[in-house]
Amino acid sequence: MRFPIITPQEAADLFHDGDNVGLSGFTASGSPKVIPGAIAEKAERLHAEGKPFKINIFSGASTSDSCDGVLARANAIGIRTPYQGHSDLRKRINAHDCHYFDLHLSELSQKIRYGFYGDIDIAIIEASDVKDDGTIVLGMGVGNIPTLAKMAKKIVIELNEKLHHNLYGLHDIYIPMDPPNRDVIPVFHPNDRIGEPVLKVDPDKIVGVVLSDSLDGVSPFTAPDEVTNHIGANVCSFLINEMHAGRIPSTFLPIQSGVGNVANAVLYGLADAKEIPDFSMYTEVIQDAVIDLMKRGRCKFGSTSSLTISNEMEQDLIDNIDFFKERVVIRPVEISNNPEVIRRLGIIAMNTALEADIFGNVNSTHVTGTKMMNGIGGSGDFARNAYLAIFSCPSVTKGGKISNIVPMVSHLDHSEHSVDILVTDQGVADLRGKDPVQKAEEIINNCAHPMYRELLRDYLKLGLGGQTPHNLHAALSFHQEFLTSGDMRNVDFAKY
Ligand code: COA
Repeated sequence: MRFPIITPQEAADLFHDGDNVGLSGFTASGSPKVIPGAIAEKAERLHAEGKPFKINIFSGASTSDSCDGVLARANAIGIRTPYQGHSDLRKRINAHDCHYFDLHLSELSQKIRYGFYGDIDIAIIEASDVKDDGTIVLGMGVGNIPTLAKMAKKIVIELNEKLHHNLYGLHDIYIPMDPPNRDVIPVFHPNDRIGEPVLKVDPDKIVGVVLSDSLDGVSPFTAPDEVTNHIGANVCSFLINEMHAGRIPSTFLPIQSGVGNVANAVLYGLADAKEIPDFSMYTEVIQDAVIDLMKRGRCKFGSTSSLTISNEMEQDLIDNIDFFKERVVIRPVEISNNPEVIRRLGIIAMNTALEADIFGNVNSTHVTGTKMMNGIGGSGDFARNAYLAIFSCPSVTKGGKISNIVPMVSHLDHSEHSVDILVTDQGVADLRGKDPVQKAEEIINNCAHPMYRELLRDYLKLGLGGQTPHNLHAALSFHQEFLTSGDMRNVDFAKY
């Protein structure tokens, strides 16, 4: 190999305070495994000497403990975008130790190319193979690395020896032209390949190769509970009814689903439903459940930006790579989440809310309106452009002290205009074609927990008229009550 093999510590020396750093991968999948740890050690050393050191991280989505985790603990992240999900980083963000800007995932690559965030000084790319001409076969996640690598002044490779089996052919790397020259993105079916199976970078930019040797380390999901099973069953029966009513074609439509137990419950529910034909996914994350359904023949194809699968599934995939190459494509997130493609394919989008209000607005990111949880991720890319946008959440949280259905969301990520269907463990609210008061009745009756229904109806009666009858004094009364007494059920509308 023409590139020097260097240690993680030698790689860390290439990073400087204030650098804009691009990372490969999407979730833990395809994210760097060893260099960030060495950068974190360097940061701690410099901080101990009273010297500043923070880098700005541009990734595909969340990463892992060996990336966001170590760097956050070392207080070594200046700016972070477009998504994160690590508890240590979350603390830094909410304490303003780290400037986080939360962005629709499909937008980061083009905004980097437009020059909105300055130069990319250096990129770290996890590779399963690298050739002397700068041809790289990526790992289990792509994210934004095609653009980040193109824009980076320098590149350091993490060559992951655990991925030594031939992953060539799993990826589809494509960068659209920018306006005014943007053309059609020619994905007409989930399995269309439109680019190259490899990432091609200028070999002169590759300053070193660090060897790594671990799988992505995605933890298997916790077993579903009664609430998630109810939500999953409600989404499934809604979709089956839609197909029977002819509003979803009998061939079905491609599915996007977020991560977590509800997504798993829905996917298994659809797979078990005899009426539902074998289906495809056009999504940003594929989890263990989809791999399982591919083996059962129920999931025909999955287009994604990452395979966020447990080590066991990852090993299985590597061992049966030829089977999966025919059924999976890993794309840049700019394409997996592309609004044009999502609208064209007619995606059924299923995402999770922290809370929703009685008029159909959704908060996915901010706990009680102030504390960042993770970020908007791809939920907006999909919901805004979907054939059907479904949001789900439990009807209550923290043993009933929090109602996830509130008078007014404390932070807005998805407005009522982007939400077709709301689902909780209680039932399904179909918001299509309804005015705000009709939506409120549907949501209170079908989605709110029975212990909160009267309170929500009382709120509606307090409404001061207009098409959306809010009472601005009382609109955040549920949240205020939770912050004061720790239980939303104590809200007393006599005060308003
Ligand atoms: N108010 C306050 N806290 C709330 C809450 C609310 N309305 N709803 C949930 N919480 C708390 C839970 O109690 C839990 O707290 P804990 O960690 O102390 O137990 C925490 O928030 C997470 O809730 P949980 O129900 O476990 O959430 P989840 O794992 O299903 O994730 C989102 C829900 C919304 C945070 C997550 O789906 C997300 O980040 N979405 C945005 C990104 C996205 O949609 N991507 C889509 C494609 S992958």
